[in-house]
Amino acid sequence: MASRRGGTILPGASRQSLGRAPPRQLSAQWGALRFIGDGWEEHMPTMPGLDQTARAIVADGKGILAADETVSTITKRLTARAIESTSDSRRAYREMLFSTPDIAAFIGGVILQDETIRQDSSTGIPLLELLVGRGIIPGIKVDTGVHPLAGAPGEFVAEGLDGLRARLEEYHELGARFAKWRAVFIIRDGLPTAKCIHANAHALARYAALCQEQGLVPIVEPEVLMEGAHALEQCEDVTGRVLQAVFNELFDAQVSLEGMLLKPNMVTAGLRCARQASVDEVAEATLRALTRHVPPAVPGVVFLSGGQDAVLATEHLNAINALGGPKPWKLSFSYGRALQDEAMEVWRGQREQVPAAQRMFHHRAGCDSAAALGRYSGDMEGEAGFAGAAEPPSIHHEPDSTLHTQH
Ligand code: 13P
Repeated sequence: MASRRGGTILPGASRQSLGRAPPRQLSAQWGALRFIGDGWEEHMPTMPGLDQTARAIVADGKGILAADETVSTITKRLTARAIESTSDSRRAYREMLFSTPDIAAFIGGVILQDETIRQDSSTGIPLLELLVGRGIIPGIKVDTGVHPLAGAPGEFVAEGLDGLRARLEEYHELGARFAKWRAVFIIRDGLPTAKCIHANAHALARYAALCQEQGLVPIVEPEVLMEGAHALEQCEDVTGRVLQAVFNELFDAQVSLEGMLLKPNMVTAGLRCARQASVDEVAEATLRALTRHVPPAVPGVVFLSGGQDAVLATEHLNAINALGGPKPWKLSFSYGRALQDEAMEVWRGQREQVPAAQRMFHHRAGCDSAAALGRYSGDMEGEAGFAGAAEPPSIHHEPDSTLHTQH
């Protein structure tokens, strides 16, 4: 334990170079100054260490494995497959994913949650060090879930700001180098309200500023949920309004855009919409929303999968990357279900299934990696040799709701 609290250093990078910024009151030491007519003012600083970490996570063909489901969410997913959820089975499941051979070619970062970041592997090394040893950057989910927003019936606000500075400090000591905070927005008659958008955008910005102060790259995740009967156009409108509000707040909070990653939803029709959009329509609407509302200084946009089928999530990402026009950010993935569902189905909690489940995970991550480069093709799904993947499993469970209050 003592060695873990001593801080884990990423391969090839000193703690200093990982960009732990001094507290804000010392910001003149790292912030840039500019003259604005009647005096000098600090403008949005760049933080070299944070930039470097953010870019390393989304280096060519790499994305993020979101393995930060809370105990209650992962328990739902395990029990849906008749797998008992205990701290040991959760550890075994995550260890199976993290120790997949050669996975670091596709995965630049893994988002953990509080239980996992403190767990040891079956061979006694911390799970976090298992990742670091393979060149994968560990991150941590730090919001404490979404709760009903007062005065806004049917809407939610992500909480967790109280005491966040101390928690971030501890997570940094444990070895985390980035963090995640997820806000959710529902599309329904009159929703989301401006109040809900503002409350969540403000909290995201306060979280992001605190992360950078503590030397962690913030992943800013405003998720417009897929649940609902809304059309693609409504999703595009709401996604645009949400992104605009988030970047306004990030600007006011002086968050360094170069030292963050954005994790948005793709622009899709609601799951209950009678007319589902084509892959190309999703790609075009998604890129349009990003082009209009996301500053080019942001190094990476890592999409959530939000309940999309795994192959469709790959196809959408590929189509977005294959579009022409300016794309100043890396466009990659930070998938939870779309990366894990097939592997969990194969694993089923059985030790002898670990190699087959790892092949399945490697295959899906390889397809998503190709999609992040715009080089995916449907032929890869059938390529037995691509990742040594076995027959894809047939998955019969009902997709769980994205409106779980904790990811
Ligand atoms: P999904 O890809 O399953 O939506 O999960 C991503 C995530 O991290 C949601 O917070």
